Amino acid sequence: MPLTPELQKDIAARLRYYRDLGVFDFYQRGSATAEAVAEAPPQDIAQDQMPKTESIALQEPETSTPVAPENRIEALRIIQEEIGECTRCPLAFQGRHTVVFGEGNPYARLMFVGEGPGADEDAQGRPFVGRAGQLLNNMINAMGLQREQVYIANIVKCRPPQNRTPEPAEAITCSQFLLRQIDVIRPEIIVALGSTAATYLLGGKSPLSALRGRVHEMHGTKLVVTYHPAFLLRDPRQKKEAWKDLQIAMAELGLQPPKKSASEQA
Ligand code: URA
Repeated sequence: MPLTPELQKDIAARLRYYRDLGVFDFYQRGSATAEAVAEAPPQDIAQDQMPKTESIALQEPETSTPVAPENRIEALRIIQEEIGECTRCPLAFQGRHTVVFGEGNPYARLMFVGEGPGADEDAQGRPFVGRAGQLLNNMINAMGLQREQVYIANIVKCRPPQNRTPEPAEAITCSQFLLRQIDVIRPEIIVALGSTAATYLLGGKSPLSALRGRVHEMHGTKLVVTYHPAFLLRDPRQKKEAWKDLQIAMAELGLQPPKKSASEQA
């Protein structure tokens, strides 16, 4: 079977799906599709982009003196200014338009970390504003919160070409800024959206299935892992599972889901 661009896209989408489910290992049965997978260019193969080493945890920021609440906005502004029109990693030269810093409440108790900006985010300079962002907003609302109450950021601040998974060098280069944002905001809990966020925030390379369902600790901050909203758009059956993860985060924050109105219950 010829390896057409459509077939490559289908294979890449299927591999992303398995990656989000936490499946990293594939075995070749000698079929044409397996050959096609082997031949596909690396940028389309999510599995190839997963970090190969075990030492992939993000580096701890050098100083972790708490920033006084009244200085948080300024502290975040300084980080953003320092990033500027960043050229520290190859993503700067691979079609990115905007550095997507992150946004939200500097006093947020809850922070979400995704993978990296997509096309909509790259165009608007804001995280999670496309279809996955709409679903993330719904997830936040289901928790009884408004988007303005939380903080949202990504492992990398620049869009990877064709939305490929960030390379370890890109994630680690960019992470110094994400860790400083976390250090300024000091959320009570972080929700890692998908395996890329979980992999880099927690280090190691465990499947998502092994990381979900419990509270982790990351540099003194609690962390819960759930599916990426883009994955939930592809497989809505997993929303029930994601809701279980969000309820773990809610329990940590002492939040109750909002009561449904009579019309919503009907
Ligand atoms: N997916 C992400 O991981 N982050 C965004 O900001 C948007 C989509």
